[in-house]
Amino acid sequence: ASDIPGDFDHVLYTEEQVASRIREVAAQIDADYAGREILMVGVLNGAVMTMADLCRAMTSHMSMDWMAVSSYGAGTKSSGVVRILKDLTKDIDGRDILIVEDIIDTGLTLSYLVQNLRSRNPNSIEIMAMFRKPEVVTCPLDVKYVGFDIPNEFVVGYGLDYADKYRNLTDVATLAPHVYKS
Ligand code: PRP
Ligand code: MN
Ligand code: MG
Repeated sequence: ASDIPGDFDHVLYTEEQVASRIREVAAQIDADYAGREILMVGVLNGAVMTMADLCRAMTSHMSMDWMAVSSYGAGTKSSGVVRILKDLTKDIDGRDILIVEDIIDTGLTLSYLVQNLRSRNPNSIEIMAMFRKPEVVTCPLDVKYVGFDIPNEFVVGYGLDYADKYRNLTDVATLAPHVYKS
């Protein structure tokens, strides 16, 4: 969808800007992994769009797996505990892992995931996140590939949701306050 009328404040990145940045990052990944096969691990649900576009912009050999996680407790992410809802389907021993995420907010999800995957003895682990909010990141994370650093605004689209909606917006836009203030 290119618009869901009335619900957005302003567009941060257009579909074309996102696609163009994806191509740049894909080229960087191809160069870095030349001759190696990448196991791309997407984090459901937000990473679906980034994964679909990034892997198709790459020429490296790759395979794909998915995890679903949830912060533990009463809905906030401040508890510091992440629960695995769906685990990888295959062993990652000796593999070169590229975790694919739509966004890094606090960094809690990814710092847990990296720690968890590291214990399974892969050859390497790197992170690609399409968006990152540097003002919000509290967990130290080594992120090799970032699409865009963005301000701390409520953004939706390209996989990013508000109450599970708006993931299908092809642009990335800020949500109009009337949508989340009632
Ligand atoms: C969002 C986003 C990241 C995570 C980032 O996922 O997709 O996975 O939160 O937040 P953090 O850096 O503070 O951990 P969410 O839990 O909303 O699930 P979703 O991907 O299904 O939307
Ligand atoms: Mn997510
Ligand atoms: Mg979400």
